[in-house]
Amino acid sequence: MASQDKIKKLIDLRAEAKLGGGEKRIVSQHKKGKCTARERIDMLLDEGSFEEFDMFVTHRCTNFGMEKTKFLGDGVVTGQGTVDGRLIFVFSQDFTVFGGSLSETFAQKICKVMDMAMKVGAPCIGLNDSGGARIQEGVTALAGYAEIFQRNIMASGVIPQISAIFGPCAGGAVYSPALTDFIMMTEEKSYMFVTGPKVVKTVTGEDITTEDLGGAHMHASKSGVSHFKLEDEEEGIMIIRKLLSFMPSNNLEEPPLADCNDPIDRMEDVLNEIIPENPNMPYDMKDVIYSMVDNAEFLEVHRHYAKNILVGFSRMGGMPVGIVANQPNFLAGVLDIESSRKAARFIRFCDCFNIPILTLVDVPGFLPGSGQEFGGIITHGAKLMFAYGEATVPKVTITLRKSYGGAHDVMSCKQLRGDLNYAWPSAEIAVMGAKGAIEVLHGRKMMELSDDEKVAFINEQEIEYNEKFANPYNAASYGYIDDVIEPRNTRFRVIRAFQSLQTKKQSNPAKKHSNIPL
Ligand code: HXC
Repeated sequence: MASQDKIKKLIDLRAEAKLGGGEKRIVSQHKKGKCTARERIDMLLDEGSFEEFDMFVTHRCTNFGMEKTKFLGDGVVTGQGTVDGRLIFVFSQDFTVFGGSLSETFAQKICKVMDMAMKVGAPCIGLNDSGGARIQEGVTALAGYAEIFQRNIMASGVIPQISAIFGPCAGGAVYSPALTDFIMMTEEKSYMFVTGPKVVKTVTGEDITTEDLGGAHMHASKSGVSHFKLEDEEEGIMIIRKLLSFMPSNNLEEPPLADCNDPIDRMEDVLNEIIPENPNMPYDMKDVIYSMVDNAEFLEVHRHYAKNILVGFSRMGGMPVGIVANQPNFLAGVLDIESSRKAARFIRFCDCFNIPILTLVDVPGFLPGSGQEFGGIITHGAKLMFAYGEATVPKVTITLRKSYGGAHDVMSCKQLRGDLNYAWPSAEIAVMGAKGAIEVLHGRKMMELSDDEKVAFINEQEIEYNEKFANPYNAASYGYIDDVIEPRNTRFRVIRAFQSLQTKKQSNPAKKHSNIPL
């Protein structure tokens, strides 16, 4: 073959590979409101930066006449490219080829990019849209999944891993995304479940739709499996790019600094007014966050799940920070099973990737009741405590208002290695609120009093209790609070605290790994 013909052959093969399962299936993909695997990669990466691997790979299956049907690339587009100039690795499942189903060779392609990502220390992004294990391949497909799972596990805490679910993701296939750091799902176009509605109906008799069983809304609000609910794929790609902007490429690097055009000493007078006079009145902690961080930008994670705690990323003075904040606007900001799990996972992510943690505290305590106890709030609350206590990244804590009981200890207190703990003058740091305390301490005595006497007694005791404990100065007198600060100056104090902590060095005792109460 003449050399020009050889070059033409290469060009033709590339064009063939780029068509995936062919024009007809691409049209059908678009009709479903979904992009193709390649369109997704184009949106994700900086223009012209994509280097594809394994475009000429085909499957090796000979079962059921499969040898007669082969597609170049075998249903997954893999390679490397850049996001904002930083290297990342990506695999994008191509639903137009055998429904994006996973074969032995398909799995090998994914493993190759994961291995490359680990070798060079760069994030790995998975764009999922697949009918699961390729049925014709049988056990080699299952083995392929397990190869991927093992790599997800080894990569955890070494390189950031993000999964977007842009179509089906069912059966054991769900466990690869579940092993990664963040999951996002498109509304009404994607679903994740271990067993689909038909099997559910057969086994349990339950009638449930795909959307209700494993749709984006369910996973973002009920199960917490998905961190982001997306209106469309474009939003998902935007969130991946934004998430990456807060993260280092690997656990040995620092998160990327950005130029900060927002004055670090900007005073926010509104914060001096934000705490209501009545301690039982809510306010929106998001207002506090927005007014404090650079350019009011906060990428909220798990927005629809366990809304009594807020977690997400911002920058302060250009430095990425992870924020964990009780939300008095929802269930009074109480800690419960879901909020404990949500915050613990987020803290551990930040600690893996050297992202400092800012904690904003306004918590009345742990949610009481049999529902919580039966569900294991002891174990789940311990996860949150464990995550804070184990984290070695810089930790700055601001107590805005309530900080009661076990919840006080859990929320990054001084003794859980909080580096700098500040409080607003409105802080109330105590074993419990006044009413509960008086009941415990004087319950017997109060039984002897008439109703009027009881009211007067409680008022008197409340005043005394609040004077003693419903303030930050008692804790500050022990050095548990490093300083009581004016709310309007919080941004400056937090930035200065994190600046001083930039060279912090802290390590945990040598061990194989800890035994977090899972
Ligand atoms: C081989 C598959 C396939 C699969 C889909 N296709 N899933 N081929 N193996 N798992 C093919 C179809 O034959 C079809 O080929 C094309 O992909 C598109 O599929 P459609 O059914 O036409 O598309 P749609 O109507 O959108 O339905 C999508 C779907 C459905 C809901 C995903 O295809 C489906 O239910 N597939 C099976 C899902 C499943 O049960 N997978 C196994 C899960 S268990 P043509 O040639 O017509 O275009 C699992 C175990 C993993 O994955 C274990 C890991 C530990």
